[in-house]
Amino acid sequence: MESPIKTTEQMATLKGLIAPIADREPGPVLLCLQAAQAHYGYVPEGAVAVIAEVCNVTRADVHGVFSYYSDLKKTPPPAISVRLCAAEACQAVGGRALAAAWGEACAADANLATATGTDEPVFCLGNCALGPAALVNNQLIGNASVDTLKSAVEAAQNAAEASL
Ligand code: FES
Repeated sequence: MESPIKTTEQMATLKGLIAPIADREPGPVLLCLQAAQAHYGYVPEGAVAVIAEVCNVTRADVHGVFSYYSDLKKTPPPAISVRLCAAEACQAVGGRALAAAWGEACAADANLATATGTDEPVFCLGNCALGPAALVNNQLIGNASVDTLKSAVEAAQNAAEASL
């Protein structure tokens, strides 16, 4: 995949985005990484060097912060994100079985797998009474099943198509 930060102009765009953060915040590396991710949907290759330069730290310093936070992504997000709760209350009501069944559903349907990417578990969505819980494009789903997840993915795809 081509990084959106290769040319001098692209680097200037990112610098323009993060320089105000670096100027006003102490220890701005995490905030700059978050700003890059908010802008691109992930932290592209090349951003680490730009952030290191703007924040006046080493690339290793930036990489250390980048690799510590699992919410900071190295690759573009899937079109529709599906995240299943993996915390205890949801496990007690079938969360693991749902994760396994969702994995099987994605393995059997290449389009579903491509659209939703790899499930990244979350740990408690504050919806424990209606577990197993999930997020589909940040929409909370209670009593989640493979069918309700597929319906939510389809609705998200339809909404995305309608907005074009
Ligand atoms: S444990 Fe899953 S929502 Fe709280």
